[in-house]
Amino acid sequence: MHSELGFQINKVLVIGLGQLGLPVAKYVKQRGFETFGYDMNSERMKQVEENFGIKSIEQFDDIDVFILCVSTHDPDDEYTPYVDGLFELARKIAKEAKNGSLVSIESTVPKGTSKKIFEIINHRLHVAHVPHRWYALEEEIHGVNQVRVIGGVSDCCLKTALQFYDRNNEALEFNDNTNNKDTSRSAQNTAVDLGIPMHPVSEIEIAELTKIIENADRYLQIAFSEDLYLYCQANNVNFGELRDSLNTKWNVKILEPRDGVGGHCLPKDTKMFLQSSKSIKSKILISAVEVDKDYRRFRELRGARLIPHAINSS
Ligand SMILES: NC(=O)c1ccc[n+]([C@@H]2O[C@H](COP(=O)([O-])OP(=O)(O)OC[C@H]3O[C@@H](n4cnc5c(N)ncnc54)[C@H](O)[C@@H]3O)[C@@H](O)[C@H]2O)c1
Repeated sequence: MHSELGFQINKVLVIGLGQLGLPVAKYVKQRGFETFGYDMNSERMKQVEENFGIKSIEQFDDIDVFILCVSTHDPDDEYTPYVDGLFELARKIAKEAKNGSLVSIESTVPKGTSKKIFEIINHRLHVAHVPHRWYALEEEIHGVNQVRVIGGVSDCCLKTALQFYDRNNEALEFNDNTNNKDTSRSAQNTAVDLGIPMHPVSEIEIAELTKIIENADRYLQIAFSEDLYLYCQANNVNFGELRDSLNTKWNVKILEPRDGVGGHCLPKDTKMFLQSSKSIKSKILISAVEVDKDYRRFRELRGARLIPHAINSS
């Protein structure tokens, strides 16, 4: 496929082949692009190559699109954001990649990261941010191919990225009238685009913020259910019955608090959002983090049987 800027997209490299990067690489390959993989964990790379036919590559000089799916948490603390690994990769790309290729950041990143990467690669390549809404438990409907937000460092970055992800997007001046969302194209190895519906935004920071605020919103919903649970414990109210009653209303959906705000993404991304403002910080999220700590402490004490009247209702 010839992009607006005149290069042909054939070779796609997915960097970071973990929980997210592997399904991305499999999807790109299934769409018919020549797909390569790169992971600093050589054992992981070997497994992916053997089991899924994603070819390993060390040199980046002949790649048309780089998709970055590396982890963005501190290796020693999964709740703390960490983008040094991404910057290191950007330096390797800056040294080796050809002019005009596309760097698509699919990892979750703090506001301002994409533009820093654009600086590191000396404005030589297009940079876009296309964060994920991937959900392991519902991969069929909430996998790689669902509506996603896309932003570019500049207009030509956005357009180049849209041509790769969603060639029929109305934000592009020209539209391919053929129905390229037909996945049977991939079987014929005539890759055109990824066929993923995109919601373009005017500033790349909006794309960065969208992802972390989505997860902050989820954090808040869980923390509210924890708050209610603690209220019920303190006031001898059956939480389960209260929740069921509340959820009979059409616009109320109280979640289950379970083990506390879980996984590493929600705490890490909420931290990214809180750290993104030097002045006004979300007071409600700061309180939500405190509620989650109280809830976890409560569960620990209950586990140690130090709270005799706990109602077992979640
Ligand atoms: N897993 C999800 O459900 C999910 C959903 C949405 C967004 N995300 C985001 O996607 C990103 C990746 O998450 P994940 O769950 O796949 O993480 P993961 O830990 O499962 O996988 C990350 C992979 O990247 C590799 N890696 C890390 N740094 C590297 C580097 N500098 N060079 C090469 N390889 C490197 C690791 O070896 C690992 O295989 C994170 O930013 C995360 O927040 C994840």
